[in-house]
Amino acid sequence: MSQGVLDVITLPFRQGLLAVDEGFLIRGDFSPSLEATFGRSLVAEQTYQPAFERLRQAGIRTTAQLEGRHSLGLCVLTQHKLETFANIARAYSHLSNGGVLVCAGQNSLGAATYEKAVAKLAPLLGSLSKAKCRIFWLARAEEDLDAWSPWLSYATPRPIANTPFVAVPGTFSWDRVDAGSEFLVAHLPPGIAGVVGDLGAGWGFLSWSLLTRYPAIRQLDLFEAEKLALDMARANLAPLGDTRQIRYHWSDVRDGVGRGSYDWIVTNPPFHREGIQDVELGATFLNVAAAALRSGGKLVFVANRHLPYERTLKASFKTVSVLAENGTFKVLLATK
Ligand SMILES: C[S@@+](CC[C@H](N)C(=O)[O-])C[C@H]1O[C@@H](n2cnc3c(N)ncnc32)[C@H](O)[C@@H]1O
Repeated sequence: MSQGVLDVITLPFRQGLLAVDEGFLIRGDFSPSLEATFGRSLVAEQTYQPAFERLRQAGIRTTAQLEGRHSLGLCVLTQHKLETFANIARAYSHLSNGGVLVCAGQNSLGAATYEKAVAKLAPLLGSLSKAKCRIFWLARAEEDLDAWSPWLSYATPRPIANTPFVAVPGTFSWDRVDAGSEFLVAHLPPGIAGVVGDLGAGWGFLSWSLLTRYPAIRQLDLFEAEKLALDMARANLAPLGDTRQIRYHWSDVRDGVGRGSYDWIVTNPPFHREGIQDVELGATFLNVAAAALRSGGKLVFVANRHLPYERTLKASFKTVSVLAENGTFKVLLATK
């Protein structure tokens, strides 16, 4: 999310159009102007661990699941359409009667479209444009949420067609199995066993595939920054949990996942952040995997063919081989 939107959302308050009150912030992050405007009056709901941690370290009250009703709500629009509709509706549902909801998002994310859609459900009280962002606000006028229920339903996990899995709109590949992960699973090597890590586990497709195919996996650790996805992994893996030890870590993989403790690490590493390609993020995952594997431990992962990960691997692994390749993906196996 751009810092710009976190500055712009404070504008109606700094201009005296709205009064600061006790309230909440949905999908925000730490910003000095937010802190200067609202002090400690907001509780921040955030399920993306790095942002949650930045807010927490700044002394802002944080939660992964907003509760209660409040006089003021701030909602930052995300790049996921259904998630954003759900967040706006949830924010509205957490307002006390007469409470004010302020939404802000970048124009490039379609902020004006959300503004028009919201205006059809409740009269807007005001709007502003600044720094390529749009802010609009409204007050909760009615007790019943009937008009908002279609949007509220996007916050509910839904089945992924032709699979036994569920996922929540907005999380990675929430409506289908990712093609890269599918390619990886089709070319996993034999012998995956012992203590295994899945870095960036999403809603659990790789982990489920590992547990169902490799009975010699004694312990599987899932690491995922987005709690909404990790909660779905928990639900998707629940039927397998009695037989093997499965551990769920809501964490930023860039902070490390241990030293020398894993026999195998399997991953489909992210290489985008907020829609922008970030190859460094994927490379960091591989370096973190290298540190977390025991000597002789193995890393197997999938990447888009064009991504230059071989250089990163050479620094920390003894051998690297290509297990499979097609027009789009490659599956690499590296031994520490
Ligand atoms: C390419 S997806 C793979 C998801 C899942 N393994 C699958 O196969 O469907 C990468 C995952 O990494 C997560 N992620 C991104 N940055 C992360 C970080 N810094 N720490 C932990 N997980 C992260 C994303 O939320 C996403 O679920």
